Amino acid sequence: MEHVYIESYGCQMNFADSEVVAAILIKEGYAMVQSAEEADFILINTCAIRDNAEQRIRKRIRELQALQNRHPQLRIGILGCMAERLQSQLMVEAENVSFVVGPDAYRKMPEILRQVREGMKAAETELSTVETYADIEPVRMNSNGISAYISIMRGCQNYCAYCVVPYTRGRERSRDPETIVNEARNLFAKGYKEVTLLGQNVNSYKWKSDAEEVGFPELMERVAQVSPLLRVRFATSHPKDLSDRLLEVMAKYDNICKCIHLPVQSGSDRMLKLMNRHYDSAWYLDRIAAIRRYMPDCSITTDVIAGFCTETEEDHQATLEMFRKVRYDYAFMFKFSLRPNTYAEKHLQDDISEAEKTRRLEEIIALQGEIALENNKQEIGRRYEVLVEGESHRSKEQLFGRNSQNKVIVFDRENVQPGEYVTVEVTDCTAATLKGKLVS
Ligand code: 5AD
Ligand code: SF4
Repeated sequence: MEHVYIESYGCQMNFADSEVVAAILIKEGYAMVQSAEEADFILINTCAIRDNAEQRIRKRIRELQALQNRHPQLRIGILGCMAERLQSQLMVEAENVSFVVGPDAYRKMPEILRQVREGMKAAETELSTVETYADIEPVRMNSNGISAYISIMRGCQNYCAYCVVPYTRGRERSRDPETIVNEARNLFAKGYKEVTLLGQNVNSYKWKSDAEEVGFPELMERVAQVSPLLRVRFATSHPKDLSDRLLEVMAKYDNICKCIHLPVQSGSDRMLKLMNRHYDSAWYLDRIAAIRRYMPDCSITTDVIAGFCTETEEDHQATLEMFRKVRYDYAFMFKFSLRPNTYAEKHLQDDISEAEKTRRLEEIIALQGEIALENNKQEIGRRYEVLVEGESHRSKEQLFGRNSQNKVIVFDRENVQPGEYVTVEVTDCTAATLKGKLVS
């Protein structure tokens, strides 16, 4: 039996894809292993979103050369977005790579591994307009047995000016809702308590058949109905498509988590237009107001980019102002990185210096740190239902879990086990974590 080790980088979608790849290979008789040292094949599922993500992977490929010197039969393959972007060029650049496989070609993995075993090199990077891997039950790796990802759609065709994803993951396509609900049901039957529905822009999920038309709100409702004890989350929402109908459904079900990730990218209308985001700051703030109207207790998180092409100090100030207005609970904050093939690369100038990008990013990070701490302080005294996930990293005597708002809460363990729902009262906090005590 041959051994495969999969290492995943980047977004949640990549981690979900790796579980599909594992399922395909296990069915063919391969065994998954937990370390590179035990492997005959190492698969690296890669991210291309920013240049530093790619540099990190290049470094990892170079490091693996030492292991290959000790195990000459070891073969390395690159999967995912970087494989799609660079295709066979990646094997010229890194001679120790034997195969590259793009995100829509994973069904060909068994055939590719056969070729590679015979000493050939292989590149399969064709994108598809229909592949959703709907019939493949992912093999949950690295899972805590409590929460799992379910991929509900693939690809993106929004073509935000900075983003490489439409080129690496292809056209948008939605997965048959019945297979999604079945996957949620199976997970719940196995003891899972939380699923996260994944897509690049879940709000544009759309399934059409002769019998029915299902949008994202209807899909959420069906998954929520699997069991009131199964929590449902989702990522990521595009502000341009966030409908009141979805907010209504979220408000209606206690087990749909009160937490929305709504990437703003910039607070400046000029930047949003240049980024091709299809909304302005007024529209975005209207969506925030709608979220708060339907669900006053909903947490809101975001993504933001500092130093996009031609961004002025005034544009940057508009972003800070947006953060002050929305008061996000959490933000993923990035410096702009110019990506090959994007509109920005073809038509705009990456004209903000690295030092200036860093300064602006640091200002956003500092402001967000203050806001998160202030938001968390308001939580002191409140009680939450927490789904317990495991032992706290700091102490074996403590457990951690999340509330519906996706905030991490740490508390003394007493007789509680991971996987249980408990009520915790918040007693203290930092900007990143809540501390609490068990109430029940
Ligand atoms: N540079 C910096 N950040 C980017 N993102 C996407 N493309 C780029 C880029 N070229 C960020 C966006 C997106 C998140 C997943 O990554 O904020 O929402
Ligand atoms: Fe990239 Fe925009 Fe698609 Fe998100 S919506 S994956 S930022 S192109």
